[in-house]
Amino acid sequence: MKQTRLISSEEVREQSEYMQKVRSFWGGRELYVYIETFGCQQNEADSERLCGMAVEMGYTPTTDPAEADLILINTCAVREHAELKALSITGQFKHLKEKKPSLQIGICGCMVSQEHRKEDVRRKYPYVNFLFGTSMLWRFPQILWEAMHAKRRTFHLDTGDPGNIAEGLPVRRAPGHKAWVSIMYGCNNFCTYCVVPYVRGRERSRQPACILEEVRTLAAEGYREITLLGQNVNSYGKDLAAEGERYDFADLLSDICKIPGDFQIRFMTSHPKDASEKLIDVMAREPKIAKAFHLPLQSGSDNILRAMNRVYNREHYLHLIDYMREKMPDIAITTDIIVGFPGETEEDFEDTLDMLRRVGYDNIYSFLYSPRKGTPAAEMTPVPQAIKSARFQRLLDTQYEIAARKVAGLVGTLQTVLVEGRSKTDVTRLTGRTEQNRLVHFEGDDALIGREAVIRITRAEPHALFGELE
Ligand code: 5AD
Ligand code: SF4
Repeated sequence: MKQTRLISSEEVREQSEYMQKVRSFWGGRELYVYIETFGCQQNEADSERLCGMAVEMGYTPTTDPAEADLILINTCAVREHAELKALSITGQFKHLKEKKPSLQIGICGCMVSQEHRKEDVRRKYPYVNFLFGTSMLWRFPQILWEAMHAKRRTFHLDTGDPGNIAEGLPVRRAPGHKAWVSIMYGCNNFCTYCVVPYVRGRERSRQPACILEEVRTLAAEGYREITLLGQNVNSYGKDLAAEGERYDFADLLSDICKIPGDFQIRFMTSHPKDASEKLIDVMAREPKIAKAFHLPLQSGSDNILRAMNRVYNREHYLHLIDYMREKMPDIAITTDIIVGFPGETEEDFEDTLDMLRRVGYDNIYSFLYSPRKGTPAAEMTPVPQAIKSARFQRLLDTQYEIAARKVAGLVGTLQTVLVEGRSKTDVTRLTGRTEQNRLVHFEGDDALIGREAVIRITRAEPHALFGELE
C-alpha cells in the first residue's frame, strides 16, 4: 500500500515564496478575498487555512463577494443538495466576473475531487479560473500564481496518491474564542453510502507533537474551546505506529489535558466500531473534556447497518451508551441518522425509532439518503421518495418528543455556559453553550462574551434553553 506523504518543510517554504510573489505582483494594491464554505467542520478548518494563505498573499477577508478580487468556493460532496448549492452559488458569481475581469474564481474541496464534477465545472462554468482537490490545498499559492499568469484555466485534481499532510501552513481563524484543530485526515471505512473515502483519501494522523504544539499555542492565545476534528477520531494513531506500541486517541486526549490553560476540549466524529472504553474512561476522568459525545448511529436496524458496512450492531452501540452513562450520568449524546437507505423496510425504520427512544438522544442530525456516484449503495434499489419523506417527518416528530421531555427537567436548574455572543434571532439576548453543548439564551452585557456565566433556566425548548443570569 502507498504511504501517506508528509509534505516536506522545503515544499511548504516553496509555497511561502509563491505567497510573496503574489503579494509583490499586486504591489500593495488593496485586495479582498471572499470564501464560501459548504459542509462539515473539516471544510471550515480547511477554509481557515486557505484564508490564512490568502492573507499572506495580501488579500483582506471580506463578507461581500461583490468587492472581492479572489473568490474561493470550498465545496462538499456528502449529499447532492450541498453540491447543487455550490454550483448555484458559482452560477451567481458569473456577473461579478463580467463586471471585474481581473477577478479570480477558484473552486476546491470534496465536490471537485470527483471527476464528473470537474467535468461539470469545465463545461458549464467557463469563467471559473482554477480548481483544486482536497489533497492540493497546501499548494494553493502556487495554483493561484499560475492561474493569474495562465492563458487557460487550470485544473489540479488529486493524483491518486493516498493523501498527504502539510504542517506549518498559515491559518486565519474565525473571530471568537473557539478553534478547530484537525488531528487526522481522510477515512478508511468505506460505508457504502459515503463519498468521503473517495474524495479525502486514506486515514492519516498528524504527529502528536504537532497537535500538542498547536493546542498549546491556542490555549496561550486565550481560546476557550478547542474542537479536535477527524472523520473518525477514534482511529487516530493507527497509521503512526505498529500495533502494540500504538499511541491512540485516548492517549492524545490525556496529553492535551495536561496543557495548562482554561479551555474545554470537544471532538468529532467518532465511529461506534472504534470508540473504546479507554476513551470513555479518559473523558470521565478529565475535567477539561466536555461531557458531550457525538456518536453517529446512521440506522437502528442491524440489517441496514450491515448493508451500510458499518461493522457494529445495535447491541454493541447500546453497550457503549450504557458504559458512557454509567461513567458520566450527565453526558449529552447526539447522533447522525440516515433515512431511506436502499432496502430500508418499515420494520428497519421502526428499529431506528426504537433506538432513538432507547438511547434518548439530546439531539439528532438527520438526513435523507442521497445516492453518491461511485459508491456501492448508489447501485442498490432505492426507497421511493414519498416513503423517505414520510419517514423523515416521523423521525423528527419522535425526536422532538424525546428532546422536549429531556429538557423539561432542566427548568429551575443552574447551568454554566461559555458565552458565545449575541443571539442571531434576537439581538437583545446573549447566547452561550453548556458543557453538554446545549444552547442557552439570556439577557446580559457584551462584556460576558468569551467568558463563563451561570444561568438559571426559566424555559426549555428542545433546541434551546432560556434563562436569567444568576
Ligand atoms: N446521504 C445522506 N446522508 C449521508 N451522510 C453521509 N453520506 C450520506 C449520504 N450519501 C451523513 C451521515 C454522516 C453525515 C456527516 O452525513 O449521517 O454521518
Ligand atoms: Fe463516511 Fe463512514 Fe468514513 Fe464517516 S466513517 S466519513 S460515514 S465512510
